[in-house]
Amino acid sequence: MSTPFDIDRYRAGLRTRWLGADFIYKSELPSTNGYLKKLDYSGFDHGTVLLADHQTKGRGQYDRVWVSEKGQNLTFTIAFKPSSGDRLPLLTLCFALGITTTLDRIGIERSMIKWPNDVLIDGKKVGGLLTESVFLGQRPERVLVGIGLNVNQQSFGKDVGKEATSLAKAGGKKLHREDLLCELLQDFEHLYTRWTRHEKELCKDINNRIYGFGEWVKASMNGTVTDEEYKFLGMNEKAECVMLSKQLDVKTFSYEQIRIFPRR
Ligand code: BTN
Repeated sequence: MSTPFDIDRYRAGLRTRWLGADFIYKSELPSTNGYLKKLDYSGFDHGTVLLADHQTKGRGQYDRVWVSEKGQNLTFTIAFKPSSGDRLPLLTLCFALGITTTLDRIGIERSMIKWPNDVLIDGKKVGGLLTESVFLGQRPERVLVGIGLNVNQQSFGKDVGKEATSLAKAGGKKLHREDLLCELLQDFEHLYTRWTRHEKELCKDINNRIYGFGEWVKASMNGTVTDEEYKFLGMNEKAECVMLSKQLDVKTFSYEQIRIFPRR
């Protein structure tokens, strides 16, 4: 059964200083990222959160679709008005780390980050992030971090069933989406501050939670799967993937160039 998001419960539970204080709720939209891309600049603040109970055209990375059962999960976008467009891929991974931090705190402890934008539990996808920016010349006018997190959904279509899970399935109980969002925003606010401060430890903290770290992995380069295996050395401060070849060359790749497939 689909339960509408309870805005009063969300407002009562919010513990952040600024993130999510401006909150927009829509029962249905094509895509929360798409909506905020087109919204007038004066129509939202730095740190506005837009949540939809149902997206009819939810989008993912690499032109994939994001399908989520109505009223069961969290599908939302956070809008930022940052002063610089540097290190945006790192920001995406900061929020992925934020998700794992929140999940640890609420007792769902096995989550991992899959570089460059997924969150997994027991190797299955539970969440994904899509960061998009609107630039005015060299300066980002707005940065939109879209997050889809499977919370209470119990079954997934045949095609994705083996690869997807939800927090309720992994943790054995349903969660209040409003309370979970408040917890997430608290971690995101802290991590956003660490990101703006260029904290060196951030990269280590992310690598500590990255799926496949230190393992020999297969990869597809520019869309083609290679036979060669690489040792995955995590990501660097630009959020590029760092790989060691069998010939002992260290190579870096952006998320546009490479996709990695850990053996597990
Ligand atoms: C991925 O796994 O490739 C990223 C999925 C991102 C989905 C979220 S749901 C909220 C926001 N609106 C969208 O259309 N996409 C993101």
